[in-house]
Amino acid sequence: MTKLWVPPHPPRRPKPVPTWRGFLGERARTAVYGWSQLAFQNWYFKRNILGHTVHVVLQPDWVQRVLLDNASNYEKPKLVKRILGPTIGRGLLTSEGELWRAQRKIVAASFTPPAVDALMPLFGEVGQDIAQSWQAGTRDMAVEATSATMRVIATALFSGDPRLTTPEAMDHITAAMEGVGEARIQALLGMPLIPVTRKGRRGRAGQQFLRSTLGAIVRERLGSDAPDDFVTAMIRALLDQFPREEAIELAIDNAATFYLAGHETTANLTSWTLFVLSEQPELQERVAKEARSALENGVDAGLSDRLPFLRAVVDETLRLYPPVPRFDREAVGPDMLGEHEVNSGDLVSIWPWIIQRHRNLWDEPDAFDPDRFAGRRQERHRFQYLPFGAGPRTCVGARFAMAEALTILATWLSQWRFAPVPGRKVRPSGMVTLRQEGGLPLMLSTR
Ligand code: HEM
Repeated sequence: MTKLWVPPHPPRRPKPVPTWRGFLGERARTAVYGWSQLAFQNWYFKRNILGHTVHVVLQPDWVQRVLLDNASNYEKPKLVKRILGPTIGRGLLTSEGELWRAQRKIVAASFTPPAVDALMPLFGEVGQDIAQSWQAGTRDMAVEATSATMRVIATALFSGDPRLTTPEAMDHITAAMEGVGEARIQALLGMPLIPVTRKGRRGRAGQQFLRSTLGAIVRERLGSDAPDDFVTAMIRALLDQFPREEAIELAIDNAATFYLAGHETTANLTSWTLFVLSEQPELQERVAKEARSALENGVDAGLSDRLPFLRAVVDETLRLYPPVPRFDREAVGPDMLGEHEVNSGDLVSIWPWIIQRHRNLWDEPDAFDPDRFAGRRQERHRFQYLPFGAGPRTCVGARFAMAEALTILATWLSQWRFAPVPGRKVRPSGMVTLRQEGGLPLMLSTR
């Protein structure tokens, strides 16, 4: 067997790192830094973070209990709602119970398999348009991926509203996401969320830009000549079920939720896939060949099925670089996870980053091996691979994201070759989503 490539990951010490280190240096900027070797071998550990009890659960049966079997006992944490509330309010991602159920039902119609199939030409056009604007040389592929997914989300859900795709909008959105790090520490300390650093202030400005722009867009949709799209369908359905002002507020909350959740994650998946392929030229040739032949039939609903190897590469990239490396719940009442007691109000933390690289769940856990998802399929527990979450709160946009990433990647890889910039190290970064620190410059040459 040829030796597998092991992509870079943060250093791991033999022993656990003290909790206070989480508030300093790299660990405060990047969620996946500072984990010890033990984290990838144990099934469970408990931490106390500024008075909050946090259970880090890595055993797939226990993860299943939290996300599915006893899901009604686990809500999105109040802390997370406090941090994200000013931006995404009580939208789908941050609501509970009946309010969540009503919103999920309303938006689900826009993410059914036929609805996603109908978007394939759009994914192809955006990919093609961007690939045609390039010249050979160095290009930041994280920026290219973000502008592609931003255009897709603005077109697919907001009828291409130009206010959402300007470079100014792009900067504001990035700042809004980055500002979350500071808010997290203030929320943990129970402090008011007042931005103190430059990053925090830019984050606040970004969040205000997003709310006011989306607020204007939503209100314009109340008229009779509104375009027939996701936002219009959503506001009409909400108006049927909620008092007018509440419906408008929820429509803005969801517009912000979908705008943010719908593009950064997919952009990160796209850029991480380009990164792993840039480091493995033979694999990249194989993917490019498959993409060229799959695209001979054009971009249609069957395209994803004609890209089985690219799909396996993307699945393996999602395992090693999950765009959402962790997500959390808060226990409503007491529970047992295996022999571990959970009290009401405790936080339970689910870490795709750790579970998907766990020593006791995967062969050669840190190695890049797309065959895990193709040819020889390794036996897997349903809850040991969860880049899109699992259970009732699983990602509503998973199918959309996969179809979009596969189409854009196939379009780009069929025309361009991507190589690393010599001497440049790529490191993961980010507290909420996992991107490349300082972007992803790659050297492009035509095929
Ligand atoms: C590669 C891309 C993506 C990844 C890795 C991803 C990951 C996730 C994860 C892990 C969750 C569950 C969080 C939890 O349980 O606490 C989630 C939920 C969600 N995602 Fe995605 N996502 C992606 C793309 C998208 C897209 C394209 C959209 C919309 C267009 C979207 C919209 C949402 C929404 C609205 C939720 C909340 C669902 C609910 O609570 O009912 N995501 N996503």
